[in-house]
Amino acid sequence: MQSKIDERTKIKNGKRCDGRSLDELRPLSVKAGVLENADGSALVEWGRNKVVAAVYGPREVLPKHLTNPYRAIINARYIMAPFSGQEEHGRAGPNRRSIEISKIARHVFENVVLVQQFPKTMINVHMEVLQSDGGTRIAGITAAAVALADAGIPMRDIPCGVSIGKVDGKMVVDLNKDEDNFGQSDMPFVFAPRTGELLLFQMDGLLSKEEIAEGLRLARGAVQKIHDLQVAALKEKYAAVSAECETQNGGETGGAGGAERGAKEPVY
Ligand code: CDP
Repeated sequence: MQSKIDERTKIKNGKRCDGRSLDELRPLSVKAGVLENADGSALVEWGRNKVVAAVYGPREVLPKHLTNPYRAIINARYIMAPFSGQEEHGRAGPNRRSIEISKIARHVFENVVLVQQFPKTMINVHMEVLQSDGGTRIAGITAAAVALADAGIPMRDIPCGVSIGKVDGKMVVDLNKDEDNFGQSDMPFVFAPRTGELLLFQMDGLLSKEEIAEGLRLARGAVQKIHDLQVAALKEKYAAVSAECETQNGGETGGAGGAERGAKEPVY
């Protein structure tokens, strides 16, 4: 008899347990500027994952003794809401896993944010998982990267990533929760897409050297689409901001004027 674990991740006729092909991403949407109070924010919906990121700063360092006179410090915080899983987790707040993910996210952002431009400051990066279904660290970093750019924080690249794993003996792209929990291996990758630099690589389970190389190849092929969605989300946010500015200036800023787009009167 087939074990229950095999059944959950079985690949049949080249299709995975959720109907995707081996190299297919789950549906993904990225939206920038979703929180008015934060300096920058983003919402990523990736399969059944929903992650909100908020960025505050650069701002005064608290507690003060953490101040670095030469650069900004990045304080990254990943957390899963107690109701984010398929069952309620019951306990909110940090745990070993969330501390690990916060730390690896901080390392990613320290490698792309131009921290030397903001000495004696801190940048807070929050990643809140509202709903989880495998790959939340990648979804969190993807959202936080957009939130940092939305906050106007200079970066040399907008990091993006994907998880690759081995399921039912095959290498597959973008694992869902069952594939992550019951598959043979799982490798989250994050890249700086302009340079191709690898910013994060983790591995759970056992893989051969050839399988790791194949995973890296699949990840590089998959991230372009994710990066394009991040950029499109930022462009959409700033198109809306510039349309609003034109409206407030009575369409005098040139280009396709607000009046042509049926701009509203300012409300003050
Ligand atoms: O989410 P990610 O793949 O980055 O991390 P993971 O530790 O490999 O967890 C895989 C999935 O298991 C998560 O996305 C959640 O859906 C689920 N999980 C959970 O429900 N509760 C936890 N405490 C840890 C993981």
